Amino acid sequence: MLALFGKTGQYFEILETPPDEVNIGDFLEISEVQLNRSLILQVVDVAYLSIPGELEEIMRLAKAQEIIVENEGHNTSIEQFGDEIISSKILKCKVRGALLNGHFYRSTLWVPSRYKTTVKKISTNEIKSVMGNENKIPFSIGELLSEPGGNVVVDLTKLDGSLNIILGRKGAGKSMLAKTLVKALVNNGAKCFVIDINNEYSVSHSSRNFVSLVPGKNLKFSFHSISKPVFISILQNLFNLPQSSIMEISRIWDRLKESGHLSFKSLKKEIAFAQINDYIRDALIRRLELLESSGIITDDLPEKTFIDEFRSSEGRCVSLMLRGQSSIFRKLIIQLSMNQLLESLESGSLEPIFLFAEEAHLYQDMSFWEDLVTRMRHLGLSLFFITNEPESLSKFIYRQSDSIFIFNYINDNDIAFLSKVTDLDSDSLTAFISNLPERCCLATGKITNNIPLLVKTEPLNDFKGGFTRLFFKKEYLKF
Ligand SMILES: Nc1ncnc2c1ncn2[C@@H]1O[C@H](COP(=O)(O)OP(=O)(O)O)[C@@H](O)[C@H]1O
Ligand SMILES: [Mg+2]
Repeated sequence: MLALFGKTGQYFEILETPPDEVNIGDFLEISEVQLNRSLILQVVDVAYLSIPGELEEIMRLAKAQEIIVENEGHNTSIEQFGDEIISSKILKCKVRGALLNGHFYRSTLWVPSRYKTTVKKISTNEIKSVMGNENKIPFSIGELLSEPGGNVVVDLTKLDGSLNIILGRKGAGKSMLAKTLVKALVNNGAKCFVIDINNEYSVSHSSRNFVSLVPGKNLKFSFHSISKPVFISILQNLFNLPQSSIMEISRIWDRLKESGHLSFKSLKKEIAFAQINDYIRDALIRRLELLESSGIITDDLPEKTFIDEFRSSEGRCVSLMLRGQSSIFRKLIIQLSMNQLLESLESGSLEPIFLFAEEAHLYQDMSFWEDLVTRMRHLGLSLFFITNEPESLSKFIYRQSDSIFIFNYINDNDIAFLSKVTDLDSDSLTAFISNLPERCCLATGKITNNIPLLVKTEPLNDFKGGFTRLFFKKEYLKF
């Protein structure tokens, strides 16, 4: 049985006496039937009932048990009542909205009476229907933690044009959730671009909808497609080319361009024979040779450019396989591909793209991502940041985020940080994410209509990588 017990600050306290089974994350409805209004609450914490004289009560029960034993074990109502008191709990709940005359409102000033109201548990699906949201492209992100078998069906279109963040400790299941989203998007005709630092987004069966690009093999950038400022900024920022050398290469570049002989090969040759300081020449040649040896930049025009990979009438996932690349080359590949991608989006020659960036701070600084976030709607870019380290993303990114998926965190510092940067109040956040079982995440924001839902994510077998490689075999780990 559930009953309205009290209200302290923002929390409603509901008394739960057996046999109800309400857990953290579940939803309750307090209704005042005559006035056709109700409050929707979500349980954020559970405490044992503590009443004055509790100790006395327990002793009374102990005594009662003795009496029962003497009375040859006949159950008495006093024992039952005692059991109920001991098993009773107080559910601390937060208001998630109100239903007034059949209409849903996010907030209300109404405080229900303790006398006239009834309290009952409601399913998440009931809440969703109460809120009247219609899923244009329904898709399941997993099962509800509290309702096994109850799928969390969300609207895929809510990811379109949105900034989404997936957070969790290493091995929590972030990439698996990202793959679920990629698969659903591709199945619905969307184009996804994945910055795949662990080579785990390629599918195990051959599929023309999933393309994995290996730098230097099926991913090469034509030298002619790279502008002078981009080329020079690469040498300067990634290869630490000193200012004096930059002036020289810039001059040589212009000369070659004027004469119509600009190519990677001729640039190198021209530098080798130029009347310049030996140190400058060596510095330039060394860096150009390094670039050439990677096979990433070539004079040849590749049959298919990186951008062509997205051109398809069907859905497509293009992933950059970056495992094994040094940090400099990883940055280089990402910079070149992002430049081309953004140029094509800007000019409108490419359809909107869903970009999945794993550990984005490792290869571009936050100012790059912040700039992208401010321009994403105009560009037609939907963003997904996936990271182990919540603090690697800036507050600006969190403030702009539409939906967020958080797996279990137990570290107080992480939780404190997240409660500062997400919309969710710190008590709900702490209660939810520090108690989340494995493979379960808290999903909130636009994707769940701002109702925080606890979701058990689904395993996927379609993708090749992503399995945790261990030295000790499973049999040993059972103990
Ligand atoms: N919902 C799930 N059910 C079963 N196994 C899962 C699930 N999610 C992830 N895994 C497994 O857990 C391991 C880590 O998952 P992964 O998504 O790579 O974690 P993360 O990206 O957070 O480090 C992988 O071996 C993956 O196959
Ligand atoms: Mg991962």
